[in-house]
Amino acid sequence: MAEVTDRALGYVRAGFPVHFRGPSGVGKTTLALHVAHRLGRPVMLMVGDDEFGSSDLVGAHAGFRRRRVVDNFIASVRKTEDDVAPRWVDQRLTIACREGLTLVYDEFTRSRPEANNALLSVLEEGVLVLPSRRRAETDYLRVHPDFVAIFTSNPVEYAGVHQAQDALFERFVTIDLDAFDEASESAIVQARSGVSEADALSIVRLVRACRVALGGADRHTVRSAIVIAKVVAQRGAVAAAGDPVFERACQDVLSSEAGRRGWNGLSAAQVRAKVLELVHQQAGGPVKRGRGTRPVRP
Ligand SMILES: Nc1ncnc2c1ncn2[C@@H]1O[C@H](COP(=O)(O)OP(=O)(O)OP(=O)(O)O)[C@@H](O)[C@H]1O
Ligand SMILES: [Mg+2]
Repeated sequence: MAEVTDRALGYVRAGFPVHFRGPSGVGKTTLALHVAHRLGRPVMLMVGDDEFGSSDLVGAHAGFRRRRVVDNFIASVRKTEDDVAPRWVDQRLTIACREGLTLVYDEFTRSRPEANNALLSVLEEGVLVLPSRRRAETDYLRVHPDFVAIFTSNPVEYAGVHQAQDALFERFVTIDLDAFDEASESAIVQARSGVSEADALSIVRLVRACRVALGGADRHTVRSAIVIAKVVAQRGAVAAAGDPVFERACQDVLSSEAGRRGWNGLSAAQVRAKVLELVHQQAGGPVKRGRGTRPVRP
């Protein structure tokens, strides 16, 4: 993580935006926010959305501003003057460009490509082109020298993800993030939940086994491991087979998606049974839990 962070900071400081790409749960958003934090400037977070148009990035006219001047300088003469003008409201990209903020555009490919067009000139020419007829200001905004953009995206095959225009891809440096190794995942789970090192490792091994057995590359991620670990920590349970809190949490968290639709010929019930089998395999055999005894880790 430290190496990727340094690499990204290097590109940003050399004047190039960075883009973290990878499957769900590999830490793209966390890393983007971490790099943004390291830059030490205020951060503007924006999350891609299929409904976005360019006005959601740049701004739009929203309502009107009305000004009335009543001139009654001479008592017998009353003159009124009305002036109605459309009111312009800046959106996040415009604010970030003007104030020199660090823009984190999370999952930017969830927005349709045409909505992101305004970024092209921002990243290349350092100019934000605004819709014309904006009152009292020019139609161009020179991008503040401190402005930095960090992007994240999921692979195109994910639901709701659009193919971004090639022109945009050429304007930033893409860093592909792979799934965490076991040790990193375990350290993350431990840090996020407060469970013991051994419990974190058991949970991570179990989730990784489910990833392989139940094809949940984008589901059985470190996020599932964190949820189970937090429940274990909060309920004072132990991450070992035989602990009812742990077993139930594993069932609920790990068989939810595959269990709803079945997976690879397995029915919902078989998926649940498979999860339980993996719990016993990865987190010790079934343990008798009598009064005052704790489940025993093999
Ligand atoms: N380096 C890290 N240190 C601590 N926690 C991390 C780290 N990386 C990721 N996490 C945790 O792992 C989980 C998943 O990370 P994150 O949300 O950044 O993934 P993502 O790649 O953005 O996923 P998605 O594509 O689904 O948005 C989060 O709960 C996050 O807090
Ligand atoms: Mg994310």
